[in-house]
Amino acid sequence: MAVVTQQQIQKFHEDGFLVLEQFFTAEECDRMRSQIQSIVAAMEVPAHCRTQFSTKEDEQLQAQGSSDYFLTSGDKIRIFFEKGVLDEKGNFLIPKEKSISKIGHALHAHDPVFKQITHSSKVQQPGIGGEVTPHQDATFLHTEPLGRVLGFWIAVEDATQENGCLWFVPGSHTAGVSRRMVRAPPGTLPCVHFVGSEPTYDHSRFVALPTRKGGLILIHGEVVHKSDLNSSQASRHAFTFHVMEAKGTSWSKENWLQPTPELPFPSLYT
Ligand code: FE2
Repeated sequence: MAVVTQQQIQKFHEDGFLVLEQFFTAEECDRMRSQIQSIVAAMEVPAHCRTQFSTKEDEQLQAQGSSDYFLTSGDKIRIFFEKGVLDEKGNFLIPKEKSISKIGHALHAHDPVFKQITHSSKVQQPGIGGEVTPHQDATFLHTEPLGRVLGFWIAVEDATQENGCLWFVPGSHTAGVSRRMVRAPPGTLPCVHFVGSEPTYDHSRFVALPTRKGGLILIHGEVVHKSDLNSSQASRHAFTFHVMEAKGTSWSKENWLQPTPELPFPSLYT
């Protein structure tokens, strides 16, 4: 397990992200990958729950906001699909195991392998791959007042520019949060809406961060980042979760994700 140096901490504060190479062993990555394969093989998803995952605003409002399947996924293991992999009746157009965008949002609570990896995390959003449009994590995970949000992104396989590695705008974490996704009052559709808007970012401002299997990327909650569509034949599994500052803050009641009596957020320290 890597030791973080003062220089690396300094770099994180400058850039808003940091890569720790070989943080996890190849065996740990293989265990995560095969666990995902068994979950996917065993999981039956009813047709009406075949929801596509998207960070695009319109699609989020339609596909996720109006979908109970998304909004109540915080304490469950549920599968979200890539765009274009299902026909209008919810039948798969490609093999099920190649159609998944993300499995969320409580692998850390219900799966022994992921529980071990995130044993002290608060919130996690495991993902398998695919396009994620430019965003700040604090858009979706907010405390009052806004405390620190730290993302952990683990390359379960090599992540390259071809198969959808992360891209960052270095230093963008100091500009504030440009938009927030908030829950609408109960019974209203769509169930979530955005306050503020995401600026259009010039692609030239993004720096690609290819990461070898086992690498861990630490992500400041306000740094702008994205991943492109996987244009290769190689899969790109990643496991990601978030930790939020609890001291002196309260979890926003407006967040889509809410702790439940069955699954309260675990504390990292007391
Ligand atoms: Fe993110």
